[in-house]
Amino acid sequence: MQTGLEVRGLSKNFGGLVVSEDISFDLPSGARKALIGPNGAGKSTFANLVTGILRPSSGTIRFDGSDIGHLDEAARVRLGIAKTFQVTTLFRRLTVRENLRLGIIERERRGFGLFRRADRDAAQEAEIDGLLSDFEMTDLADVPVENLAYGQQRLVELALTLSLKPRVLLLDEPAAGVPSSEVHLISDAIARLPEDLAVLIIEHDMDLVFRVATSIVVLVQGRILVEGTPAEVAADARVRELYLGGGHG
Ligand SMILES: Nc1ncnc2c1ncn2[C@@H]1O[C@H](COP(=O)(O)OP(=O)(O)O)[C@@H](O)[C@H]1O
Ligand SMILES: [Mg+2]
Repeated sequence: MQTGLEVRGLSKNFGGLVVSEDISFDLPSGARKALIGPNGAGKSTFANLVTGILRPSSGTIRFDGSDIGHLDEAARVRLGIAKTFQVTTLFRRLTVRENLRLGIIERERRGFGLFRRADRDAAQEAEIDGLLSDFEMTDLADVPVENLAYGQQRLVELALTLSLKPRVLLLDEPAAGVPSSEVHLISDAIARLPEDLAVLIIEHDMDLVFRVATSIVVLVQGRILVEGTPAEVAADARVRELYLGGGHG
């Protein structure tokens, strides 16, 4: 049995529009894989199929060897399959610490909780301190989210997602809208993610992709064009044509 995600022959149509076509790949524990491709290639749709927001037209998704195709989004989160929250889910007037606390309470409410007794509050605060330190945000703990730089807000989002203790993490354009001077915050945070976490990052910023990914899947019009190491993908003539050859998708 393989640990992690195993996607086989996944397809999705919206009416007559084929948005995912026969997608197969693995995302084992510890993977650092990137999914790239032009706008409209079907990257977000693929992430939504994995998290259970969308149902595939055909194909299978296995997690730790079990078919999860029948599970809804909440059940998949409970198994540990998480997509980053959007900045819009943060409570802007609350501090970083307060937002993280709400994330942990939400996890416990959903039955993830390890702590059920009087030591729960202390355990929550210790966990928050750990997350703040992992993300180098200890100094920002008591700052309202609305006063943070945008890149920092996206880090809070990522920390909030990690408070769910996921085993598979899907990052859909974590650097979107982040000024280039702050993108290093995102790549540093990704570099410090738990080693055994399976990570799929969808991203347009190629510097970021090449900094974090050990394997890259290129999606074009819903189909996998090529999967390989960063060096293999960078040397692929079709990929070069797509990104450099004046091809606009
Ligand atoms: N709910 C939907 N209904 C119909 N078409 C959709 C829907 N969601 C996405 N699409 C279409 O599917 C294609 C892929 O979209 P998307 O997965 O968002 O691409 P990407 O994330 O790679 O930019 C696009 O042509 C988009 O218009
Ligand atoms: Mg998208």
